[in-house]
Amino acid sequence: MKGMPSSVRYFEEVAAEWDTLRKGYFRDEVREKALDLAKVQAGERAADVGAGTGFLTEALLGRGLEVVAVDRSPAMLAELTRKFGGRSGFRCMPGETDALPLEASTVDCCFANMVLHHVESPEAMIRELFRILKPGGRAVLTDFERHGFDFFLSEYYDRWPGFSPAEVASLFRAAGFATVEAGPLGEVCQAESSTGIRAVVPIFFVRAER
Ligand SMILES: C[S@@+](CC[C@H](N)C(=O)[O-])C[C@H]1O[C@@H](n2cnc3c(N)ncnc32)[C@H](O)[C@@H]1O
Repeated sequence: MKGMPSSVRYFEEVAAEWDTLRKGYFRDEVREKALDLAKVQAGERAADVGAGTGFLTEALLGRGLEVVAVDRSPAMLAELTRKFGGRSGFRCMPGETDALPLEASTVDCCFANMVLHHVESPEAMIRELFRILKPGGRAVLTDFERHGFDFFLSEYYDRWPGFSPAEVASLFRAAGFATVEAGPLGEVCQAESSTGIRAVVPIFFVRAER
């Protein structure tokens, strides 16, 4: 793993325990609220971008959608395959958020939970969400609001200290989305630093229609 950027190395190292760690960071309600915001319907095709171990994928499959899960981390993809490999309607693919391995206009809905604060170019990721959606398709992004906790960057290798919902909404508008709505999700992300600093950061959503 020598030579890998630290964020990539971090996710390679935590993949096998991500499900346990994740439960300490945010609740299962985050995915239920994200799916409800997208008004998902059984039989639709969804993309889970930066899928990790499949927090959203699991709920999407449970609601009868076909899911393409994309992640850059080989260890995360291995966990996805171990957990969902035999399930009908499931596929996972290696890929980067700024060049998703999906054809244009091929998914009904797409999701990215807790991914934007890791990516180099939020603009490029949101442009890719627009590209892969069918006309009328819905994107729901969930992430945490701007915060002042430096240990998120130094201990979890976050690239960005959260975002204001309005600034992310404006990136969706700039990418071409027709209808864009942003607001508090009513959930929080919690974490504790190695020195005992406790962070509780609100989670926001952006819902957009192509
Ligand atoms: C905080 S985890 C969230 C995983 C999952 N969405 C969840 O809610 O549990 C972020 C995930 O995004 C992936 N990721 C980060 N940057 C990426 C990029 N540029 N392209 C693709 N995947 C990326 C990481 O490998 C990791 O699996």
